[in-house]
Amino acid sequence: MSGKKIQIFDTTLRDGEQVPGCKLNMKDKVDLALKLESLGVDIIEAGFPISSPGDFISVKEISKVIRHAAVCALSRAVLKDIEIAAEALQHAERPRIHTGIGTSDHHILTKFNSNREDILIRAVQCVRWAKNFVDDVEFYAEDAGRTDNDYLARVTEAVINAGATVVNIPDTTGYCLPNQYAEKIAYLVNNVPNIDKAVISCHCHNDLGLATANAIAGVMAGAGQIECTINGLGERAGNTSLEEVVMILKQHNNLGFYTNIVTKDLNPISRLVSETMRMPVQPNKAIVGSNAFAHSSGIHQDGFLKNAQNYEIINPEEVGAEASKIVLTARSGRSALAYRLQMLGFTFDRDDIDGLYQIFIQIADGKKEVDNEDLEMMAKQFKQPAA
Ligand code: KIV
Ligand code: ZN
Repeated sequence: MSGKKIQIFDTTLRDGEQVPGCKLNMKDKVDLALKLESLGVDIIEAGFPISSPGDFISVKEISKVIRHAAVCALSRAVLKDIEIAAEALQHAERPRIHTGIGTSDHHILTKFNSNREDILIRAVQCVRWAKNFVDDVEFYAEDAGRTDNDYLARVTEAVINAGATVVNIPDTTGYCLPNQYAEKIAYLVNNVPNIDKAVISCHCHNDLGLATANAIAGVMAGAGQIECTINGLGERAGNTSLEEVVMILKQHNNLGFYTNIVTKDLNPISRLVSETMRMPVQPNKAIVGSNAFAHSSGIHQDGFLKNAQNYEIINPEEVGAEASKIVLTARSGRSALAYRLQMLGFTFDRDDIDGLYQIFIQIADGKKEVDNEDLEMMAKQFKQPAA
């Protein structure tokens, strides 16, 4: 692989698990962490240990079994949180503490009833405290998306001086447009004197459907890590979806980025997360939705059957999806009908297909999808001479 390696920080087990109804038990979390490690993620955010005894144990058990990926635990900028995170990570081969505080004026004034100078001091204190326990400390500037860039640059410089190895710039509320998020990252790259001593991380929420676009814009502006979840799970409208950013960077390899993700495992892990968290994936979801490789209109089907690349930019095998499907609906055409009949072992000439198509379209108008049973019945009746 050539180019710049982008670190994939998976937060399915932390931000993803915050989704109502997605709570996991310890065994499920450990099993998923092992799958995430085989998928090739660089960092697994395993949980928020101070939040509950169950999360503490999960982070501890995950730390015991994960040997290659870094295991990360979340904390607030609270000394006790950081101590508990460190304790949960004690068996980790590569422990990381993720600590931080809100830096937007919204958060500073209405959440902390504080001021910028006080928040800056607390940010530095929490990083210094975490450094007593682990080398790898990631600082998050919560609501960085709505934080004044100049102040964000001051906070970033100060936490890097305090020892932060990664600085996370979350668009916590999913507010930014891709150009605004990219400008924010570029501002840090150009205005923080010690920025070369830390990795900038993108953590984007999907409230306006821009989480993936913003993360990619951030990387193009100089960030080196993307925080994401399988199936885009996460608070409210979710986070950047792992499968989307990974395939964007792979598909557009001329951008000069690569990841370590084993892309053929994307669909299997998507299904596993969906089943374990009991959270269905929308059919039209990019890469892992059930319709991601299904073709149903006549124009598309005809073009696809002539050359798959007319209508598919990714080979389903590359992302571990089932083979592409030709779905028969009232919008389908003769090529698709002939193809599906052929798949069932029926070969007809062009005139027969014209005749069959008239029967097909009547059936198709009466139901959502024409299935193999309908086709078998149509083909057999058509072949039998009238008595
Ligand atoms: O969205 C956010 O700001 C977060 C932080 C805790 C990193 O999830
Ligand atoms: Zn988040």
